[in-house]
Amino acid sequence: MNKKPSIIMDIEGNNCIFNKEANKVFNLDLLDDIRELFPDIYLDKDMESQNCIKKNTKISYPINLTLFKNTNHWLIEIKDSLECQWDEFVKCQRLLHVLFLDLISINSEKDLYKTLIIKARKILNIDRIGILLFDSQNGKIKGTWGTNRWGEVVDQSSYEGYLAEKDSYKESLDFKNYAVYNHDTYLYDDGEIIGRGWNTKSIFYAGQKPVGWISCDNSISKKPLPIWKKEILGELARMTGEFLFNLRLENHLKSEVEKKTVKLNKTIQELKETQDNLIEAEKLASIGSLISGVAHEINTPIGVALTGVSHIEETTKDLMEKIDGGRLKKKDLDIFVNDSLYSSTLCVSSLKRAGELVNIFKQLSVDQESTNNEELNLSELVENVLLSIKYSTKLNGIKVETDIDKNINFIGNPKSFYQILTNLINNSIVHGFINIPKPLIKISGRIISGKIDVNYSDNGVGIPKKLHKKVFEPFYTTKRNQGNTGLGLNIIYNSVLKQGGKISIKDHKDKGTQFNIQFNI
Ligand SMILES: Nc1ncnc2c1ncn2[C@@H]1O[C@H](COP(=O)(O)OP(=O)(O)OP(=O)(O)O)[C@@H](O)[C@H]1O
Ligand SMILES: [Mg+2]
Repeated sequence: MNKKPSIIMDIEGNNCIFNKEANKVFNLDLLDDIRELFPDIYLDKDMESQNCIKKNTKISYPINLTLFKNTNHWLIEIKDSLECQWDEFVKCQRLLHVLFLDLISINSEKDLYKTLIIKARKILNIDRIGILLFDSQNGKIKGTWGTNRWGEVVDQSSYEGYLAEKDSYKESLDFKNYAVYNHDTYLYDDGEIIGRGWNTKSIFYAGQKPVGWISCDNSISKKPLPIWKKEILGELARMTGEFLFNLRLENHLKSEVEKKTVKLNKTIQELKETQDNLIEAEKLASIGSLISGVAHEINTPIGVALTGVSHIEETTKDLMEKIDGGRLKKKDLDIFVNDSLYSSTLCVSSLKRAGELVNIFKQLSVDQESTNNEELNLSELVENVLLSIKYSTKLNGIKVETDIDKNINFIGNPKSFYQILTNLINNSIVHGFINIPKPLIKISGRIISGKIDVNYSDNGVGIPKKLHKKVFEPFYTTKRNQGNTGLGLNIIYNSVLKQGGKISIKDHKDKGTQFNIQFNI
């Protein structure tokens, strides 16, 4: 608990709170006297009744004015070293308040020193004032801003002197935030004596570190230094240190944030590049596996056809030799004809299969139908597809239930939609409905979150969860030996993607398989 008399006040002087000790010290009517101090002050009713200050009470003097870090409040504490009158306390407090109000918005050290000199001269009415900084590494002291012998504010950043020559420097360090005072001494400007008078030196600290000092003198007006003003000069040093500390902290944080942001942006960029590379690698890999799949599929029928043709070639050569040697018998001719017929039938069917495969592979190209888009109604489209394959569903005893919003219209390719639906139904028949007593297909369509949401489900054997992604890969099939190529779902996947949509298998507890397709209207 702070037992010192203290007041907390916001930076504009609009509001203040006194602690109990401050109430005991002051016996003034808050409304009149604090308002006199800060004309714009606002005090709410509660505060008015709680806090009263006695006028003309002898109060402890001077004050400590501390800016709370990261807030807009001052802590005004009354030091108990010296005695003074309320009027002087008011004067002192007001001057410091006005002075530091101007420093709040400053965000560079250079501006801080310059503004401080200008304001201190104007507000505190000091003849000459200068701020010097320690360069302890090199044992030097460096100028910032100050006033020349005529009291004009000048840039003194080129000034450098040796600390060793400043004999009073070490002992001044002990007087942290206190104006060390020479009441009658030589006064200098640019190394030249310009007269005699008082001068002060107040060391200021940023945190625990002494940073520099503020020098003042009366070389122009020769006026004596009132005791309250001397105290104010000590206070000025303390607050300069505080401002500097806050400013350095703020700038340090800013530069740290900037550094981190640069690093973060670099990482994001790298991640993006990695992602692009991965996508490219993925594309290449899928093209690679597609090509090897196509090659593998085509290879089989072509291989069979090649064997058939080679066999015909051999038997024909055999036959010719027999003819040339006059050894041909009717039996040989019969065998040859039968053999040739068998082989050429095999060749024809194999080459037909190769032709079919080529047609299927063509569908893998997602660009093929881009020009055939038209306005479609989802409900009508599904009914038309179902009608066209009614024979097949009826033959397999399949019941199809639809629940589709009649008002879903969209631009799309009817052919690719037909292909998607027939492929799904075909899969249900071929893979799903194995020993299923009442095969059922359900198709629903809704608009959900501005997207067309279609659910296709069957009550078949289902697809194990671990294969939910795999089945969309080209050439994945569980029925290769029955003539399936494993391209159906991959073609669907690419068509949906081309329409700007996505397809997935829903993870659900019911029996069967459920596909969810979403695409834009
Ligand atoms: N409705 C379904 N029920 C159970 N399994 C399914 C269903 N649909 C697809 N599958 C599984 O997914 C695999 C891949 O299906 P996809 O349509 O891509 O190939 P396919 O039907 O085997 O061959 P293709 O369609 O080229 O004739 C199938 O082999 C099957 O194992
Ligand atoms: Mg299929």
